[in-house]
Amino acid sequence: MIALGIETSCDETAVALARDTGEILADVTRTQVQRHAAFGGVVPEIAAREHVEALPGLLQRALEQARLSWRDIGAVAATRGPGLPTSLAVGFQAAKALALRLGVPLIGVNHLEAHVHSIVLDPSRPARSGLADTLVLVVSGGHTLLAMYQGPGRCRMLAQTVDDAAGEALDKGAKLLGLPYPGGPEIERLARGGDPNAVRFPRGDVRALRPGVRMAYPELAFSFSGLKTALLYHLKGRPPPEPAELADLAASYQAAVVDALATQVSRALERIPTRAVGCAGGVARNAALRSALAKVASTHGLAFLAAPPEYCTDNAAMVAALGAALLAEGAEPTPLDADILADWPLPA
Ligand code: KG4
Ligand code: ZN
Repeated sequence: MIALGIETSCDETAVALARDTGEILADVTRTQVQRHAAFGGVVPEIAAREHVEALPGLLQRALEQARLSWRDIGAVAATRGPGLPTSLAVGFQAAKALALRLGVPLIGVNHLEAHVHSIVLDPSRPARSGLADTLVLVVSGGHTLLAMYQGPGRCRMLAQTVDDAAGEALDKGAKLLGLPYPGGPEIERLARGGDPNAVRFPRGDVRALRPGVRMAYPELAFSFSGLKTALLYHLKGRPPPEPAELADLAASYQAAVVDALATQVSRALERIPTRAVGCAGGVARNAALRSALAKVASTHGLAFLAAPPEYCTDNAAMVAALGAALLAEGAEPTPLDADILADWPLPA
């Protein structure tokens, strides 16, 4: 069965086609980063309008890329939440209309579970290997969390950040260093020529959970807001850093983020029976993070599965793959009168 996937939860419009085996037949994305750059953040009204404009062309391109026609589509999957309400609505309503017109099931998927599921797209994963008891770190600009994955529809959140996401910390740090948005790739590029031990930045110790925030494993929570403050104070009253110093700062800052993430993964593995370790989300493109997590996994004698770099940042391949897998495992289709779920959390 071939599923069409639509992702419009934030500022990327994406369409993909996937088989229920996880094979990706087409994958097209249009990013709006340039459109929002002047405003210093995503403007919801502009994002929604851009999704409306981009979607028809992307649907056509995806079919052309896969050399398929509308008749070949057996299901329509779309991100139902969490995300920006106006952005989610564009993709989810389009998916409903397509499912109705094509007479195929609709499946609304959770964006966070789609990131978790994107580890199945790792080409090093043995075919038909199960996903049971896989600990997955999702690290993006909007989210940082640890989830236990048993397979499609069976995903539990163990812990998450109490303040900034890891990607947000990299983006804010990069801004303080005078680097363009998004800052993660810029920091990674500069860090290659720097000394990660030049400055000792805080490793994200969680001091307190916000009232009302409940997590299954609070001791596995993340915190990144202190890191950017430490960089701010480091830069205060000094002349702008020379290129060599800038590289050292980028390397030290990146090391603090990577260390904080790897430490919590390591702690989780000591507490929770796990069969494999995975990582996904935009920050999972980072080579230093991938190698640190691969090392943690191998220390525990576990396999390491990482979403391929092209499926780390927001994409529809993970949505189509998860939608197809859910239906193949017998999940109920989403009713056509369902609404978006802008605050849809992963179950704890
Ligand atoms: O998953 P994503 O596209 O969007 C969200 O859902 O947030 O992730 C974007 C985040 C940004 O914070 C960006 O700086 C970060 O991923 N990122 C990276 C790298 N590439 C993207 N961070 C570190 N190293 C990279 N190579
Ligand atoms: Zn995302």
